[in-house]
This record gives sequence, structure tokens and C-alpha cells, in this order.
Amino acid sequence: METKILKPDDLNIMLCAKRLKEGELVAFPTETVYALGAIATDADAVKKVFEVKKRPLDKPLIVAVASKSDIQKVVKSIPDKAQVLIDKFMPGALTLVLDRADIIPDVVTAGSDSVAVRIPDNEVAKKLIALSGAPVVVPSANTADKPSPTLSSHVKDDLDGQIGYILDGGASDIGIESTIVDARTEPPTVLRAGGVSVEQLKKAIGEVKTKREETKPKYMPNAEVMFSAYYDGMTDNICARYDNIVKSGKTAVIICLDSSRASYGNRKVYTVGSNYRDYAHNLFAMLRKADGEHYDAVIAEGVKPDEDLADSLVARLIKLSGGIII
Ligand code: TXA
Ligand code: MG
Repeated sequence: METKILKPDDLNIMLCAKRLKEGELVAFPTETVYALGAIATDADAVKKVFEVKKRPLDKPLIVAVASKSDIQKVVKSIPDKAQVLIDKFMPGALTLVLDRADIIPDVVTAGSDSVAVRIPDNEVAKKLIALSGAPVVVPSANTADKPSPTLSSHVKDDLDGQIGYILDGGASDIGIESTIVDARTEPPTVLRAGGVSVEQLKKAIGEVKTKREETKPKYMPNAEVMFSAYYDGMTDNICARYDNIVKSGKTAVIICLDSSRASYGNRKVYTVGSNYRDYAHNLFAMLRKADGEHYDAVIAEGVKPDEDLADSLVARLIKLSGGIII
């Protein structure tokens, strides 16, 4: 099958909705990362998602709907705090885990009686889901060994020949995945810190539990990834580590904010922008670039705790590095 990247005009969105209704898979942009969609109520279509992504069947999928009123169709009930979060953050980079309604088949949730639901804040995604007339699963459109795709070309790199169409929405606005909150616990539990920061959640509903995410890397770029703790003198430590790697005959690149660029002199550097939103926006693309340019090692700057998105970035850096902190 040839994989075509399509302009996201109305005709192409209609074409993709038709494909979904026929039980096929389509990749499309969301504001977090690109999604690999299938109709969530079509168990056979959903099974293909697991195959194409090489994903174990025990890892459940997120379901997307096009509007707040459609959330009720996929869940049994909405607790008060969940409603506050829906009103405040949806559409957006928040996924809520709630009691699953019967129309969602077992394969989507890996047999769990809960379902994870979100509304993407992206016009192409919303139009596509609305036109398909059903909830759509929205896992990231990468294979299990790669970071989430933030460009249509990343999707093509990973899934070429396996799906018919990728709707092209340019670079993902946020660049890291949604924040997942289990709203069935009291207080609600953050299962994955992502595009909505833990600070934002606390402001909306008060206390939240946070669960330590696994440190085992889910995907591993070819380069060895390490990241620095955040402290005064961090840049000196990164320089020393970089120089050691280079001395041993390997190549390395540093991922840093614009503001610390000068500290690295003429070492190889990818700058990610001026703040942590920019860092999140560019991180996955930079890792793919480092692989493309065959670096042996990537050293990512640490992030200052308690700043916007710091938790979300640290969670990803831990996962990507397998916990290698310098
Ligand atoms: O931003 C995002 O959420 C992206 C965009 C494309 O929607 N999707 C995404 O999906 O990151 P994926 O499949 O790469 O990650 C989904 C995560 C997995 O860690 C999975 O275990 C968790 O969501 N998940 C899904 N359903 C769940 C459930 N019922 N209970 C707990 N965790 C769940
Ligand atoms: Mg993923």
C-alpha cells in the first residue's frame, strides 16, 4: 500500500472519514502529537492499530470524541472534578480515565473497565472525528520503538506502506502527549504528565496524586540519551560530559535552551527555543534529527522544577534516557 500525505482540506478529510468508516486506519494531526486513528467501536479495525504500531495488546488506547457532549457516549458517569477538568481543559491536551461505557470494545481498553477519553484541540482532528460519526482511537502514530511523531514526515518514516493516508497538519502545536488523569480516584491521579501541567491541574481541582512513571524506556532512539539534573553549574557539567564522549571517539549533541547556547562554545548543539513550552514542542523532533545525523549520544539540559511543564519534560527525559541522569 502506498502511503500518501494529504493536504487537510475538506475533501481529503471526507476521504479519510470514509476510510475510517470502512474499517481502515488513517493518521492525522492533533495539537499534542500525530494520531493513528481507527473507529473505536470497530474491534477489527482497532486490532490493526496494535499490529501496525507493534504494540502489546495489554496497553490500552485513548479514545477521542469531537465534542464535550459526546464524552457521555463512551463513559458511564462523570464525577464532579472530572466535569471541572472537562470544562477547563477540553478540547485540549488532557485525557481523563473514567468508567467505560459498553459501546467501547475490550480490545481498546485491554479488557479494563475504564476508558481514557480526550477531545483534540485541532480543527482537522475534530472535523475528521465528527465526520466519521463515532469515537476514534488516538494512539500516537509512531511504532513502539520511536518517539511520538510531531510532523507528518515522522509518521511516514515509521508507518510507510502500512497505512493509506496521513493528513498533514504541519508541526504539532504542543509536541508532547496529553496529560492523563484517572478521575475515578479521590483525589484524581496523574498517570502521565503531558501538555497540561500538573500545576494547571492543581489550580483547577486542588490536590492531585502523582504516580511515578516507569523508568524503563518505551522507545529508544539509536543515540544514547542522557539528561542533566537542574542546578547552578549544570552547563559546566554538560560540557565536561560532552568532552569525555568526544575524547572517546564518539559524537554527541547537546539539546539546550537559547539562553544557555553560549555556554557550550563550539560544541554541537540543537537549540529548542526560549522556554519549556518550546522545549516540549521540539524535543521529539530533535531526537529524530539526532538519529538522522547519526550522533552516538544526546545530552539534554535539565529543567527547573515547579516551572510550567517541568514535570512533563522530566517524565519524558527519564523515559527516553532510561533514567541516565548526569
Ligand atoms: O496526546 C496524546 O494522548 C496522543 C494523541 C495522538 O492523542 N496519544 C497518545 O496515545 O499518546 P498513546 O497510545 O501513545 O499513549 C496512550 C497512553 C498509554 O500509556 C496507555 O497505557 C494509556 O494512555 N491509557 C489508555 N487507556 C487507558 C486506561 N483506560 N487507563 C489507564 N491508562 C490508559
Ligand atoms: Mg505513544
